[in-house]
Amino acid sequence: MPIAATISKKTIKPHLEVKGKSPLSGELIVSGAKNSALVLMAASLLTEDELRLKNVPRLTDIDGMAEILSTMGVTVKRNNSELFLKASKLHHVELPYELVHGLRASFFCIGPLLARLGQAKIPLPGGCEIGARPVVEHIKGLKSLGAYINVEHGLVTASIPGTQKHLKGTDVVLDCPSVGATETILMAAVLAEGNSSIENAAQEPEIQDLAKMLNSMGAKISGAGGPKITIQGVKQLNGCDYSVMPDRIEAGTFLIAAAITRSNLKVTPVIPEHLNAVLQKLRDCGCKIQQEGEGIRIIPMEIKGVDITTQPFPGFPTDLQAPFMALMTTAQGTSVITEKIYENRMKHVAELQRMGASIRVQGNTAVIEGVPELSAAPVFGGDLRSTAAMILASLTANGTSKVEGLQHLDRGYEEMEKKLNQAGAQILRV
Ligand code: UD1
Repeated sequence: MPIAATISKKTIKPHLEVKGKSPLSGELIVSGAKNSALVLMAASLLTEDELRLKNVPRLTDIDGMAEILSTMGVTVKRNNSELFLKASKLHHVELPYELVHGLRASFFCIGPLLARLGQAKIPLPGGCEIGARPVVEHIKGLKSLGAYINVEHGLVTASIPGTQKHLKGTDVVLDCPSVGATETILMAAVLAEGNSSIENAAQEPEIQDLAKMLNSMGAKISGAGGPKITIQGVKQLNGCDYSVMPDRIEAGTFLIAAAITRSNLKVTPVIPEHLNAVLQKLRDCGCKIQQEGEGIRIIPMEIKGVDITTQPFPGFPTDLQAPFMALMTTAQGTSVITEKIYENRMKHVAELQRMGASIRVQGNTAVIEGVPELSAAPVFGGDLRSTAAMILASLTANGTSKVEGLQHLDRGYEEMEKKLNQAGAQILRV
């Protein structure tokens, strides 16, 4: 083979070729929520019975979690969008770092493992592209439930000390409303002896989805979705059938896709209360929003710049910051976007600038002056939501863009280009 051919074969990474300026129409279908499905899968460790999860998206993160659970002895079977999980023969293993690296949700297994087996060994998940992402609150919570925890050489070893068989119910007050810590403590406390409470709990819809499923497994949880959750420990949980809620971040991404291409679209199914902050910003910047059956119709008018600050739920979600910034690049006037959750979530700025966007960044604040048009360019998505933002920007750009970063995209968006193409986009996976 000639050298040039060898080089080009080696350097071509999987990417999308996105032809800009194709108007979208019709419907975009939203899959089950990735972040919910991952934690519901971890909750399968809490019972010997079978858990049947419906509406589970096909994503590499879900495959990764299935592999982790299988390593611990869980039988995992898939039938289209259904997942059957049975943890009857659970065994204690030390998960290899390679398996948990990059899949932060794997750490959520620590709570159920402790509750079921009385011990767990899980490598620290480490930071990621967007920030350091500590698990201090998870560990503090488990310690107050009576666990002995040792963190050494990047490994968290947790056990229930002495002759005690169960964790002991307690009141936990979180320093910050961490989603993962709330989920970890909740799953550990359901099988603890006595009552527990979590104050300053995360209020994200994924917490409500978890509590709802745990309750249908026989748990006694109230207050999930608010700042204080109370848990009455039970002796055991049973299996159940449960349908994962629609992915609010995918829904938000699609609504922004409609706005950025100035297309009249229906996005469905959507639970509007999960997206109030986003819908408000879309209205503020010039979109008409109407509920239509189980979905939302968006009719974009002239888009003007609006300011956003990311916040824990019910505030504007950090996971939609990059997509919304893509929208603001072609809005009329100025917008200011402030990232308050992660310390390193502005990497998409440089890529948007390469497409002709006018953005100044100071710390975690970006000031965007809308330009009339973006121009297509080769761009790279450095994390899941940045890659989505690059696709959205490419949909409106003049020309054909090459978007790299599909290893991130496939972690969290089910068949994104296929769904967009069905609505009229012209995207090719190469
Ligand atoms: C979850 C979501 C992620 C989303 C995030 C915030 C999953 C699998 N992922 O991540 O998509 O972006 O919520 O909505 O559900 N923090 C601490 N100490 C801790 C724990 C967290 O300081 O012990 C900080 C983190 O560094 C971060 C912030 O709290 O700045 C939010 O983290 P957290 O809510 O824990 O996010 P995750 O559960 O990891």
